[in-house]
Amino acid sequence: MTKITPLPHIAQTKPYVPGGKLAGASGSVIMLASNENPFGPSPKAIEAMKAVAGDVHVYPDPEYRALRETIAEAVGIADSSRVVVSAGSDEIIHLLTQSYAGPGDEILFTEHAFSMYRVSALSHGATPVTVPETDLTAGVNAILGAVSERTKILFLANPNNPTGTMLPVEALEQLQDSLPPHVLFVVDGAYAEYVGPEYEAQIRDLVDRKANTVMMRTFSKIHGLAALRLGWGYMPAEIAETYQRIRGPFNVNGLAVGAGMASIQDTDFLAKSRDHNTDWRARMIAALNAMGLPTPHSDANFVLPEFGSSERAAAANDFLKACNILVRAVGGYGLPERLRITVGSAHDNQAVLDALKEFTASR
Ligand SMILES: Cc1ncc(COP(=O)(O)O)c(C=O)c1O
Repeated sequence: MTKITPLPHIAQTKPYVPGGKLAGASGSVIMLASNENPFGPSPKAIEAMKAVAGDVHVYPDPEYRALRETIAEAVGIADSSRVVVSAGSDEIIHLLTQSYAGPGDEILFTEHAFSMYRVSALSHGATPVTVPETDLTAGVNAILGAVSERTKILFLANPNNPTGTMLPVEALEQLQDSLPPHVLFVVDGAYAEYVGPEYEAQIRDLVDRKANTVMMRTFSKIHGLAALRLGWGYMPAEIAETYQRIRGPFNVNGLAVGAGMASIQDTDFLAKSRDHNTDWRARMIAALNAMGLPTPHSDANFVLPEFGSSERAAAANDFLKACNILVRAVGGYGLPERLRITVGSAHDNQAVLDALKEFTASR
């Protein structure tokens, strides 16, 4: 028997469960489980990857200066030294946790928050603390009521995954102002582009408003670059400096650098993706409600119909799988009576709606 054993908190950490693939399916599968962009990447990002493909024998710039400057310019950030880049925004979650919380410390997030916050807390020996939500939405007072002397980080995805709900910017400002100075406030803007450019600017400005706040973003959703694993963050100078100290020297690969720079400047592609999402999200919510599946408002690129019971949600999930349609079961998020459905292409959205109509007609 081996004597090599992981640290106790690592041994207890359960891995993140991804949206996954449909095992054993024959024919084409409709993938609506991982909130990916149905348009794929921007054509300009594909061109940029082709242009750098012949250079991947050379390590990327360890400072990622061009990528950070391009991001800063595209989103109106004056000081690119406070922009950091990452291998997916998951890496930012991990590196912030590693830097600021450990055994004995608490990490706060809300009841149906993105599950990597818990995985990251546990894998660094910190204690995850879950704050109840009301109507699938985080509440400022509930969060503040859960803060203790041991709280080190508050993670808040706004909009949140998998609920699709968000707090207004005024509530984020109230949180910023009311959190004690020892708590780092991480605003996760993975879905911010779907809300719109005005909101993107507002959460950028939150970082400048108070020294306790970090914004993290991803290229995996509206940019359609999930497989490249590229994220970025905007941080107070001291926090960015800590991040740069502990990240891997080449944490972002060269293809991601090229694609990310091209994608963040392709505002037409981003606007087209957002408009398609806004249009189809409304159509899907209306259609799901009309078939007796209560579906709340969503500010992101997915919807969350309710099936009345966990058994019926599971039966609907099985029915969709039999139709080669993969959506996301969210029992692990405390929502076993719901399914999360990504807003996909017009064809795929219609297919999932047609299948659910057939399902609800008989069950
Ligand atoms: C709220 C939220 N934050 C962060 C991420 C991580 O994305 P990535 O690591 O691909 O950037 C996701 C992915 O689903 C998410 O939903």
